[in-house]
Amino acid sequence: MTDLLVVGSGFFGLTVADRCARELGLQVQVIDRRPHIGGNAYSAAEPTTGIEVHQYGAHLFHTSNQRVWEYARRFTSFTSYQHRVFTTYRGEVFSMPINLGTINQYNRSAFTPDEARAWVAEQAAKLTGEPSNLEEKAISLIGEPLYEAFIKGYTAKQWQTDPRELSADIISRLPVRYTYDNRYFSDTFEGLPTDGYTAWLERMADHPNITVTLDTDFFDTSQPFNKANVVGQVPVLYTGPVDRYFDFAHGDLSWRTLDFETEVLPTGDFQGAPVMNYADEDVPYTRIHEFRHFHPERDYPDDATVIMREFSRFADHADEPYYPVNTAQDRERLLAYRELAKGERDVVFGGRLGTYQYLDMHMAIGSALSTYDNKLAPFFSSGQALD
Ligand code: FDA
Repeated sequence: MTDLLVVGSGFFGLTVADRCARELGLQVQVIDRRPHIGGNAYSAAEPTTGIEVHQYGAHLFHTSNQRVWEYARRFTSFTSYQHRVFTTYRGEVFSMPINLGTINQYNRSAFTPDEARAWVAEQAAKLTGEPSNLEEKAISLIGEPLYEAFIKGYTAKQWQTDPRELSADIISRLPVRYTYDNRYFSDTFEGLPTDGYTAWLERMADHPNITVTLDTDFFDTSQPFNKANVVGQVPVLYTGPVDRYFDFAHGDLSWRTLDFETEVLPTGDFQGAPVMNYADEDVPYTRIHEFRHFHPERDYPDDATVIMREFSRFADHADEPYYPVNTAQDRERLLAYRELAKGERDVVFGGRLGTYQYLDMHMAIGSALSTYDNKLAPFFSSGQALD
Protein backbone atom coordinates (compact mmCIF):
# COMPACT_ATOMS: atom_id res chain seq x y z
CA MET A 1 0.00 0.00 0.00
CA THR A 2 1.28 3.49 -0.85
CA ASP A 3 0.92 6.18 1.83
CA LEU A 4 2.38 9.00 -0.28
CA LEU A 5 3.05 9.45 -3.99
CA VAL A 6 5.98 11.74 -4.79
CA VAL A 7 6.04 13.01 -8.38
CA GLY A 8 9.64 13.90 -9.27
CA SER A 9 12.88 12.47 -7.90
CA GLY A 10 14.82 15.76 -7.64
CA PHE A 11 16.17 17.12 -4.35
CA PHE A 12 12.73 18.34 -3.29
CA GLY A 13 10.93 15.05 -3.92
CA LEU A 14 13.69 12.88 -2.44
CA THR A 15 14.00 15.00 0.72
CA VAL A 16 10.28 14.61 1.40
CA ALA A 17 10.40 10.88 0.52
CA ASP A 18 13.35 10.39 2.89
CA ARG A 19 11.69 12.19 5.82
CA CYS A 20 8.32 10.45 5.38
CA ALA A 21 9.93 6.99 5.07
CA ARG A 22 12.67 7.33 7.69
CA GLU A 23 10.86 9.52 10.24
CA LEU A 24 7.25 8.40 9.88
CA GLY A 25 7.73 4.87 8.53
CA LEU A 26 5.43 5.59 5.56
CA GLN A 27 5.45 3.64 2.31
CA VAL A 28 6.53 6.17 -0.31
CA GLN A 29 6.25 5.68 -4.05
CA VAL A 30 8.41 8.07 -6.12
CA ILE A 31 7.87 8.37 -9.87
CA ASP A 32 9.91 10.29 -12.41
CA ARG A 33 9.33 10.67 -16.12
CA ARG A 34 13.06 10.68 -16.80
CA PRO A 35 15.10 7.45 -17.07
CA HIS A 36 17.22 8.43 -14.05
CA ILE A 37 16.89 9.63 -10.48
CA GLY A 38 17.86 13.07 -9.19
CA GLY A 39 16.17 15.70 -11.36
CA ASN A 40 18.48 18.39 -12.64
CA ALA A 41 21.25 17.58 -10.18
CA TYR A 42 21.84 14.18 -11.84
CA SER A 43 25.40 13.50 -12.98
CA ALA A 44 27.09 10.56 -14.68
CA ALA A 45 30.61 9.54 -15.63
CA GLU A 46 31.48 10.26 -19.26
CA PRO A 47 32.10 6.67 -20.48
CA THR A 48 35.53 7.05 -22.14
CA THR A 49 37.22 9.22 -19.50
CA GLY A 50 35.27 8.51 -16.29
CA ILE A 51 34.97 12.27 -15.72
CA GLU A 52 31.77 13.14 -13.83
CA VAL A 53 29.54 15.33 -16.00
CA HIS A 54 26.59 17.30 -14.61
CA GLN A 55 24.08 16.50 -17.35
CA TYR A 56 21.81 19.51 -16.80
CA GLY A 57 24.48 22.16 -16.27
CA ALA A 58 27.15 22.64 -13.60
CA HIS A 59 25.90 22.15 -10.03
CA LEU A 60 27.87 23.71 -7.17
CA PHE A 61 26.69 23.07 -3.65
CA HIS A 62 26.84 25.96 -1.19
CA THR A 63 24.73 27.00 1.79
CA SER A 64 24.73 29.04 4.96
CA ASN A 65 21.84 26.99 6.34
CA GLN A 66 23.26 24.81 9.14
CA ARG A 67 20.27 22.46 9.11
CA VAL A 68 20.54 21.84 5.36
CA TRP A 69 24.31 21.31 5.62
CA GLU A 70 23.89 18.76 8.41
CA TYR A 71 21.03 17.06 6.59
CA ALA A 72 23.04 16.79 3.33
CA ARG A 73 25.98 15.27 5.22
CA ARG A 74 23.85 12.33 6.31
CA PHE A 75 24.09 11.12 2.72
CA THR A 76 27.42 12.42 1.45
CA SER A 77 30.71 13.96 2.47
CA PHE A 78 31.91 17.05 0.62
CA THR A 79 35.23 17.98 -0.95
CA SER A 80 36.84 21.32 -0.14
CA TYR A 81 36.08 22.70 -3.64
CA GLN A 82 35.58 26.47 -3.84
CA HIS A 83 33.99 27.88 -6.97
CA ARG A 84 35.77 30.52 -9.05
CA VAL A 85 34.72 31.81 -12.46
CA PHE A 86 36.60 33.60 -15.23
CA THR A 87 35.37 35.46 -18.29
CA THR A 88 36.89 35.98 -21.71
CA TYR A 89 36.30 39.42 -23.21
CA ARG A 90 37.99 40.58 -26.43
CA GLY A 91 40.71 37.96 -26.19
CA GLU A 92 41.57 38.68 -22.55
CA VAL A 93 40.66 36.68 -19.44
CA PHE A 94 39.25 38.48 -16.38
CA SER A 95 38.18 37.18 -13.00
CA MET A 96 34.50 37.25 -11.98
CA PRO A 97 32.39 38.39 -10.22
CA ILE A 98 33.74 41.89 -10.90
CA ASN A 99 36.36 42.57 -8.23
CA LEU A 100 39.32 44.86 -7.68
CA GLY A 101 41.46 42.59 -9.86
CA THR A 102 38.92 42.80 -12.72
CA ILE A 103 38.71 46.60 -12.46
CA ASN A 104 42.48 47.09 -12.34
CA GLN A 105 43.08 44.72 -15.26
CA TYR A 106 40.35 46.45 -17.28
CA ASN A 107 41.83 49.91 -16.62
CA ARG A 108 45.50 48.84 -16.65
CA SER A 109 45.56 50.56 -13.28
CA ALA A 110 46.60 49.96 -9.68
CA PHE A 111 43.52 51.50 -8.00
CA THR A 112 43.16 51.07 -4.26
CA PRO A 113 39.70 49.96 -3.07
CA ASP A 114 38.67 53.61 -2.49
CA GLU A 115 39.95 54.72 -5.88
CA ALA A 116 38.13 51.85 -7.62
CA ARG A 117 34.92 52.69 -5.74
CA ALA A 118 35.22 56.34 -6.78
CA TRP A 119 35.84 55.35 -10.42
CA VAL A 120 32.77 53.08 -10.52
CA ALA A 121 30.63 55.74 -8.79
CA GLU A 122 31.79 58.38 -11.29
CA GLN A 123 30.89 56.12 -14.25
CA ALA A 124 27.52 55.17 -12.73
CA ALA A 125 26.63 58.83 -12.06
CA LYS A 126 26.81 59.61 -15.78
CA LEU A 127 23.37 58.05 -16.19
CA THR A 128 20.80 60.48 -14.87
CA GLY A 129 17.08 59.86 -14.43
CA GLU A 130 15.15 56.70 -13.66
CA PRO A 131 16.49 53.63 -15.58
CA SER A 132 13.86 52.43 -18.04
CA ASN A 133 15.40 49.13 -19.11
CA LEU A 134 18.01 46.56 -18.04
CA GLU A 135 20.85 48.34 -19.83
CA GLU A 136 20.17 51.66 -18.09
CA LYS A 137 19.70 49.93 -14.75
CA ALA A 138 23.05 48.13 -15.10
CA ILE A 139 24.82 51.36 -16.10
CA SER A 140 23.29 53.14 -13.11
CA LEU A 141 24.75 50.45 -10.87
CA ILE A 142 28.26 49.90 -12.29
CA GLY A 143 28.76 52.47 -15.07
CA GLU A 144 29.03 52.00 -18.83
CA PRO A 145 32.59 50.58 -19.20
CA LEU A 146 32.08 47.56 -16.92
CA TYR A 147 28.55 47.04 -18.27
CA GLU A 148 29.73 47.05 -21.90
CA ALA A 149 32.56 44.62 -21.16
CA PHE A 150 31.10 42.10 -18.76
CA ILE A 151 27.30 42.34 -18.73
CA LYS A 152 25.95 43.49 -22.10
CA GLY A 153 26.95 40.65 -24.44
CA TYR A 154 26.53 37.93 -21.82
CA THR A 155 23.03 39.15 -20.88
CA ALA A 156 21.98 39.50 -24.52
CA LYS A 157 23.03 35.88 -25.11
CA GLN A 158 21.36 34.62 -21.92
CA TRP A 159 18.05 36.22 -22.83
CA GLN A 160 18.36 36.19 -26.63
CA THR A 161 17.17 39.77 -26.34
CA ASP A 162 18.80 43.20 -26.55
CA PRO A 163 19.23 44.36 -22.90
CA ARG A 164 17.52 47.65 -23.88
CA GLU A 165 14.37 45.60 -24.44
CA LEU A 166 14.61 43.78 -21.11
CA SER A 167 12.87 45.06 -18.02
CA ALA A 168 14.95 47.03 -15.50
CA ASP A 169 13.58 44.94 -12.64
CA ILE A 170 15.35 41.76 -13.84
CA ILE A 171 18.34 43.04 -11.84
CA SER A 172 18.27 44.77 -8.50
CA ARG A 173 22.03 44.73 -7.90
CA LEU A 174 25.23 43.81 -9.67
CA PRO A 175 27.87 42.70 -7.20
CA VAL A 176 31.21 44.51 -7.35
CA ARG A 177 33.87 43.59 -4.81
CA TYR A 178 36.48 46.14 -3.89
CA THR A 179 38.93 43.45 -2.81
CA TYR A 180 40.83 40.79 -4.72
CA ASP A 181 38.50 38.09 -3.32
CA ASN A 182 37.23 36.18 -6.35
CA ARG A 183 35.35 33.37 -4.60
CA TYR A 184 32.06 33.04 -6.41
CA PHE A 185 29.94 32.17 -3.36
CA SER A 186 30.13 33.75 0.06
CA ASP A 187 28.21 31.03 1.92
CA THR A 188 29.48 29.44 5.14
CA PHE A 189 29.58 25.94 3.65
CA GLU A 190 30.69 24.92 0.18
CA GLY A 191 31.91 21.76 -1.52
CA LEU A 192 31.10 19.06 -4.01
CA PRO A 193 29.76 15.61 -3.07
CA THR A 194 32.82 13.37 -2.78
CA ASP A 195 31.30 10.45 -4.70
CA GLY A 196 29.24 12.63 -7.04
CA TYR A 197 25.65 13.85 -7.10
CA THR A 198 24.02 10.61 -8.23
CA ALA A 199 25.57 8.60 -5.36
CA TRP A 200 24.20 11.23 -2.93
CA LEU A 201 20.71 11.19 -4.47
CA GLU A 202 20.63 7.37 -4.60
CA ARG A 203 21.52 7.16 -0.90
CA MET A 204 18.57 9.43 -0.10
CA ALA A 205 16.23 6.98 -1.86
CA ASP A 206 17.92 3.88 -0.46
CA HIS A 207 15.35 2.76 2.11
CA PRO A 208 13.06 -0.29 2.12
CA ASN A 209 9.98 1.96 2.38
CA ILE A 210 10.91 4.01 -0.71
CA THR A 211 10.18 2.67 -4.20
CA VAL A 212 11.41 4.67 -7.18
CA THR A 213 9.86 4.01 -10.59
CA LEU A 214 11.51 5.79 -13.53
CA ASP A 215 10.28 6.50 -17.08
CA THR A 216 6.85 7.13 -15.57
CA ASP A 217 4.91 10.29 -16.36
CA PHE A 218 2.23 11.38 -13.90
CA PHE A 219 -0.01 12.38 -16.81
CA ASP A 220 0.31 9.10 -18.67
CA THR A 221 -2.99 7.36 -18.04
CA SER A 222 -1.55 3.98 -19.06
CA GLN A 223 0.55 3.80 -15.89
CA PRO A 224 -1.03 3.12 -12.47
CA PHE A 225 0.22 6.23 -10.59
CA ASN A 226 -1.39 8.76 -12.92
CA LYS A 227 -3.17 11.93 -11.89
CA ALA A 228 -6.67 10.70 -12.69
CA ASN A 229 -6.21 7.50 -10.67
CA VAL A 230 -4.39 8.88 -7.70
CA VAL A 231 -5.56 12.40 -6.76
CA GLY A 232 -8.11 12.19 -3.96
CA GLN A 233 -7.14 8.55 -3.27
CA VAL A 234 -3.50 8.89 -2.12
CA PRO A 235 -1.76 12.05 -0.83
CA VAL A 236 0.52 13.48 -3.53
CA LEU A 237 3.63 15.64 -3.43
CA TYR A 238 3.91 17.08 -6.93
CA THR A 239 7.23 18.65 -8.05
CA GLY A 240 6.52 18.90 -11.80
CA PRO A 241 5.48 22.12 -13.60
CA VAL A 242 2.40 23.69 -11.98
CA ASP A 243 0.94 24.89 -15.32
CA ARG A 244 1.19 21.35 -16.77
CA TYR A 245 -0.68 19.94 -13.74
CA PHE A 246 -3.68 22.11 -14.64
CA ASP A 247 -3.33 21.42 -18.35
CA PHE A 248 -2.17 25.00 -19.00
CA ALA A 249 -5.67 26.28 -18.15
CA HIS A 250 -4.35 29.81 -17.48
CA GLY A 251 -1.69 29.70 -20.20
CA ASP A 252 2.00 28.73 -20.14
CA LEU A 253 4.43 30.03 -17.55
CA SER A 254 7.50 31.10 -19.49
CA TRP A 255 10.97 29.63 -18.96
CA ARG A 256 14.43 29.90 -20.40
CA THR A 257 16.11 26.66 -21.36
CA LEU A 258 19.71 25.69 -22.13
CA ASP A 259 21.24 23.60 -24.87
CA PHE A 260 24.47 21.78 -24.09
CA GLU A 261 27.18 20.55 -26.47
CA THR A 262 29.52 18.07 -24.82
CA GLU A 263 32.89 17.18 -26.31
CA VAL A 264 35.79 14.94 -25.27
CA LEU A 265 39.11 16.53 -26.20
CA PRO A 266 42.57 14.92 -26.36
CA THR A 267 44.21 17.21 -23.80
CA GLY A 268 44.66 17.01 -20.05
CA ASP A 269 43.51 20.61 -19.60
CA PHE A 270 41.47 22.71 -22.01
CA GLN A 271 40.97 25.97 -20.13
CA GLY A 272 42.66 25.71 -16.72
CA ALA A 273 39.43 26.42 -14.83
CA PRO A 274 36.03 24.78 -14.28
CA VAL A 275 33.98 27.59 -15.85
CA MET A 276 34.90 30.18 -18.47
CA ASN A 277 32.24 32.73 -19.39
CA TYR A 278 32.27 34.33 -22.83
CA ALA A 279 31.22 37.98 -22.62
CA ASP A 280 31.51 38.80 -26.34
CA GLU A 281 28.21 38.75 -28.18
CA ASP A 282 29.68 37.21 -31.31
CA VAL A 283 30.64 34.02 -29.44
CA PRO A 284 27.38 32.06 -29.57
CA TYR A 285 27.69 30.19 -26.26
CA THR A 286 27.55 31.81 -22.83
CA ARG A 287 30.11 29.61 -21.11
CA ILE A 288 32.22 26.45 -21.23
CA HIS A 289 32.40 24.01 -18.33
CA GLU A 290 35.40 21.72 -18.00
CA PHE A 291 34.33 19.07 -15.51
CA ARG A 292 37.69 17.64 -14.48
CA HIS A 293 38.42 20.88 -12.57
CA PHE A 294 35.49 20.28 -10.20
CA HIS A 295 37.39 17.31 -8.76
CA PRO A 296 41.14 17.98 -8.75
CA GLU A 297 41.41 15.29 -6.05
CA ARG A 298 40.28 12.53 -8.45
CA ASP A 299 42.49 10.37 -10.57
CA TYR A 300 41.27 11.47 -14.01
CA PRO A 301 43.23 10.73 -17.23
CA ASP A 302 45.88 13.33 -18.05
CA ASP A 303 45.43 13.07 -21.82
CA ALA A 304 41.68 13.66 -22.15
CA THR A 305 39.12 16.14 -20.87
CA VAL A 306 35.36 16.77 -21.15
CA ILE A 307 34.01 20.21 -21.97
CA MET A 308 30.42 21.40 -22.27
CA ARG A 309 29.38 24.52 -24.15
CA GLU A 310 26.20 26.16 -22.87
CA PHE A 311 23.69 28.01 -25.08
CA SER A 312 20.65 29.83 -23.72
CA ARG A 313 17.20 30.46 -25.26
CA PHE A 314 13.49 30.72 -24.49
CA ALA A 315 11.78 27.37 -23.89
CA ASP A 316 8.63 25.97 -25.45
CA HIS A 317 6.50 22.98 -24.41
CA ALA A 318 8.99 20.39 -25.64
CA ASP A 319 12.01 21.94 -23.85
CA GLU A 320 13.37 21.40 -20.37
CA PRO A 321 12.29 24.40 -18.27
CA TYR A 322 15.40 25.79 -16.50
CA TYR A 323 15.01 29.40 -15.36
CA PRO A 324 11.63 31.14 -14.78
CA VAL A 325 11.36 34.26 -16.96
CA ASN A 326 8.93 35.78 -14.48
CA THR A 327 7.22 38.50 -16.53
CA ALA A 328 4.23 40.41 -15.11
CA GLN A 329 2.01 38.04 -17.12
CA ASP A 330 3.77 35.03 -15.59
CA ARG A 331 3.19 36.40 -12.11
CA GLU A 332 -0.51 36.87 -12.84
CA ARG A 333 -0.82 33.35 -14.20
CA LEU A 334 1.08 31.93 -11.24
CA LEU A 335 -1.44 33.51 -8.85
CA ALA A 336 -4.27 31.90 -10.85
CA TYR A 337 -2.53 28.50 -10.66
CA ARG A 338 -2.01 28.94 -6.92
CA GLU A 339 -5.77 29.45 -6.54
CA LEU A 340 -6.42 26.24 -8.49
CA ALA A 341 -3.81 24.41 -6.38
CA LYS A 342 -5.71 25.32 -3.21
CA GLY A 343 -8.67 23.32 -4.53
CA GLU A 344 -6.68 20.12 -5.11
CA ARG A 345 -7.46 17.63 -2.36
CA ASP A 346 -4.39 16.24 -0.58
CA VAL A 347 -1.93 17.49 -3.19
CA VAL A 348 1.10 19.54 -2.13
CA PHE A 349 3.01 21.48 -4.80
CA GLY A 350 6.73 21.94 -4.24
CA GLY A 351 10.16 22.38 -5.80
CA ARG A 352 11.31 24.71 -8.50
CA LEU A 353 8.77 23.55 -11.13
CA GLY A 354 5.84 23.15 -8.76
CA THR A 355 6.25 26.68 -7.39
CA TYR A 356 7.70 28.39 -10.51
CA GLN A 357 10.75 29.66 -8.67
CA TYR A 358 14.49 29.40 -9.24
CA LEU A 359 15.77 27.38 -6.28
CA ASP A 360 19.37 26.48 -5.62
CA MET A 361 19.83 22.94 -4.31
CA HIS A 362 20.16 24.06 -0.70
CA MET A 363 16.95 26.08 -1.10
CA ALA A 364 15.09 23.10 -2.60
CA ILE A 365 16.24 20.90 0.30
CA GLY A 366 15.45 23.60 2.90
CA SER A 367 12.02 24.20 1.42
CA ALA A 368 11.31 20.44 1.32
CA LEU A 369 12.29 20.11 5.00
CA SER A 370 9.87 22.93 5.87
CA THR A 371 7.11 21.35 3.78
CA TYR A 372 7.67 18.12 5.68
CA ASP A 373 7.65 19.90 9.08
CA ASN A 374 4.69 22.17 8.41
CA LYS A 375 2.42 20.10 6.18
CA LEU A 376 3.24 16.43 5.75
CA ALA A 377 4.27 15.47 9.29
CA PRO A 378 1.19 17.17 10.87
CA PHE A 379 -1.06 15.58 8.21
CA PHE A 380 0.23 12.05 8.75
CA SER A 381 0.73 12.30 12.52
CA SER A 382 -2.41 14.16 13.59
CA GLY A 383 -4.70 14.23 10.58
CA GLN A 384 -4.28 17.99 10.03
CA ALA A 385 -5.51 19.07 6.54
CA LEU A 386 -3.00 19.16 3.69
CA ASP A 387 -3.30 22.55 1.99
P1 FDA B 1 14.18 19.06 -10.27
O1 FDA B 1 13.90 19.70 -11.56
O2 FDA B 1 15.56 18.70 -9.94
O3 FDA B 1 13.28 17.73 -10.17
C1 FDA B 1 11.96 17.67 -10.64
C2 FDA B 1 11.73 16.27 -11.18
O4 FDA B 1 10.36 16.12 -11.50
C3 FDA B 1 12.51 15.99 -12.47
O5 FDA B 1 13.32 14.84 -12.31
C4 FDA B 1 11.42 15.77 -13.51
O6 FDA B 1 11.76 14.78 -14.46
C5 FDA B 1 10.27 15.30 -12.65
N1 FDA B 1 8.96 15.50 -13.27
C6 FDA B 1 8.48 16.65 -13.81
N2 FDA B 1 7.25 16.44 -14.34
C7 FDA B 1 6.96 15.13 -14.12
C8 FDA B 1 5.86 14.32 -14.44
N3 FDA B 1 4.80 14.77 -15.13
N4 FDA B 1 5.88 13.01 -14.09
C9 FDA B 1 6.95 12.50 -13.42
N5 FDA B 1 8.04 13.23 -13.09
C10 FDA B 1 8.04 14.54 -13.44
N6 FDA B 1 21.65 24.77 -7.74
C11 FDA B 1 22.72 24.96 -6.94
O7 FDA B 1 22.59 24.93 -5.72
N7 FDA B 1 23.96 25.15 -7.49
C12 FDA B 1 24.18 25.16 -8.83
O8 FDA B 1 25.31 25.36 -9.28
C13 FDA B 1 23.06 24.96 -9.68
N8 FDA B 1 23.22 24.97 -11.01
C14 FDA B 1 22.12 24.86 -11.83
C15 FDA B 1 22.28 24.95 -13.20
C16 FDA B 1 21.18 24.88 -14.03
C17 FDA B 1 21.37 24.98 -15.50
C18 FDA B 1 19.89 24.75 -13.48
C19 FDA B 1 18.67 24.74 -14.35
C20 FDA B 1 19.72 24.64 -12.12
C21 FDA B 1 20.84 24.70 -11.27
N9 FDA B 1 20.70 24.59 -9.90
C22 FDA B 1 21.80 24.76 -9.09
C23 FDA B 1 19.37 24.37 -9.29
C24 FDA B 1 19.04 22.90 -9.02
O9 FDA B 1 19.01 22.19 -10.23
C25 FDA B 1 17.68 22.86 -8.31
O10 FDA B 1 17.84 23.38 -7.02
C26 FDA B 1 17.11 21.50 -8.15
O11 FDA B 1 16.96 20.91 -9.40
C27 FDA B 1 15.73 21.61 -7.50
O12 FDA B 1 15.20 20.35 -7.26
P2 FDA B 1 13.68 20.05 -7.56
O13 FDA B 1 13.44 18.70 -6.98
O14 FDA B 1 12.82 21.16 -7.15
O15 FDA B 1 13.56 20.01 -9.17
